[in-house]
Amino acid sequence: MPKIKFTIITLFREALEPYLNTSMMWKATDKGLVEFDFVNLRDFGLGPHKSVDDTPYGGGDGMLLRPEPVFAAIESVKEKDPDAKVIIPTPVGEIWNQNMARKIAEDADNSEKPLHFIILCPHYEGYDERILSIVDYKISLGKYVLTGGELPALIIIDSVVRLIPGVLGGENSAIIESFSDGDNLEYPQYTKPFDFRGKKVPEILLSGNHGEIAKWREEHSKKAN
Ligand code: ADE
Repeated sequence: MPKIKFTIITLFREALEPYLNTSMMWKATDKGLVEFDFVNLRDFGLGPHKSVDDTPYGGGDGMLLRPEPVFAAIESVKEKDPDAKVIIPTPVGEIWNQNMARKIAEDADNSEKPLHFIILCPHYEGYDERILSIVDYKISLGKYVLTGGELPALIIIDSVVRLIPGVLGGENSAIIESFSDGDNLEYPQYTKPFDFRGKKVPEILLSGNHGEIAKWREEHSKKAN
């Protein structure tokens, strides 16, 4: 049984699949820790053209997602799992951070049954405001505007999935990294060669003195802005 399931409602499944089928996301799926499912919003479109958007009342540029196809798509998922929670990536949402990702990963790890999130990926200029009445979490990835919810969906998924125990190799990998205690940034790290074009690895890291190395790392961890 997976720890967490993401059902992604999108018009552009092909934009998401390559990433979710690669590296850690693929490994997490292969290990059975995560499950991804897609719902094509177009399947719930209206009329012969399966239309999902229309012009804004009051005028203005661009097209907005209509509520009917979105509600029907979400309801089709909730029919099978009424406990599924709906996330919408939107610039007007709460700014996503590591603590939010960690909370979801921990809840998923501690839950008896898989946590299930439906991520609704808006597209076009925006969405009809009434769509928000069926949404549990509004998430912003930052103060900039993207063309759709697919990239935010991948970022939200990636940042949660890598924190689920068993996904990353070393169990400490996710513990000592950046933002692990709120706003710390990870200390600088080095691998071979010792001397790369005259730039040398700090000697202390070769000393074998774990106490001194820990102190150096502490001193070289910074606070995020
Ligand atoms: N959709 C468009 N821009 C976005 C942002 N900054 N965060 C989340 N979703 C978005």
